[in-house]
Amino acid sequence: MTVSTPPPPTNSPARGRFITFEGIDGAGKSSQIAFVTGLLRARGLKVVATREPGGTPLGEKLRELLLHEPMHLETEALLMFAARREHLAALIEPALARGEWVVCDRFSDATWAYQGGGRGLEREKFAQLERWVHGHLQPDLTLLFDLPHTVAQGRIAAQARGLDRFEQERAEFHERVRAAYLERAAAAPARIRLIDADQPPALIQKRLEEIIANLCR
Ligand code: TYD
Repeated sequence: MTVSTPPPPTNSPARGRFITFEGIDGAGKSSQIAFVTGLLRARGLKVVATREPGGTPLGEKLRELLLHEPMHLETEALLMFAARREHLAALIEPALARGEWVVCDRFSDATWAYQGGGRGLEREKFAQLERWVHGHLQPDLTLLFDLPHTVAQGRIAAQARGLDRFEQERAEFHERVRAAYLERAAAAPARIRLIDADQPPALIQKRLEEIIANLCR
């Protein structure tokens, strides 16, 4: 007897796309996330905008701890991935399966850059956690907003607000984070698109429009 696989249900929607935004603190991601979300919605796509750490009720509680509570480096990395596991299960994967597009402010490249590059988490430990939590899934597109730390620092200072644990780190920490991001981008050029964030917003938006038009083609 031959056993045949049933055909996929004809009414299941095409899977959505997963877009992540990365960069050092003060790179100006937030306004560009709003811009890209608007571009996608203008194309008639259903978009879920979310963030890490966070994006779920539990994830937002973990975010509070991660941003303000001193902790061991490996605790920090584990909590980032714990929040991510929850985020994937409760929000990201169901939305993609429904055919919605997910736009996420930071994902695992941030753990690579901050806990790996910034704090010195061993690469093999990062790789194990990444495989465990989302070995089956990577973003379809990652937009990496790159600029010198000195420029980013000026932007954060101009906002005149309280700083979290990461923003309070010294210049060398942020330079290591930036270098780790660039290294990761060089290793995955098809997925990670580098955006020069030290240029006028209109030029950044023109580049984003081109990238999104290509992705939607
Ligand atoms: P973000 O939301 O960009 O900060 P803001 O609210 O100031 O715009 O990110 C919060 C901080 O969390 C940021 O400094 C980077 C850090 N972070 C990590 O260290 N590792 C991670 O895996 C993630 C997702 C964020």
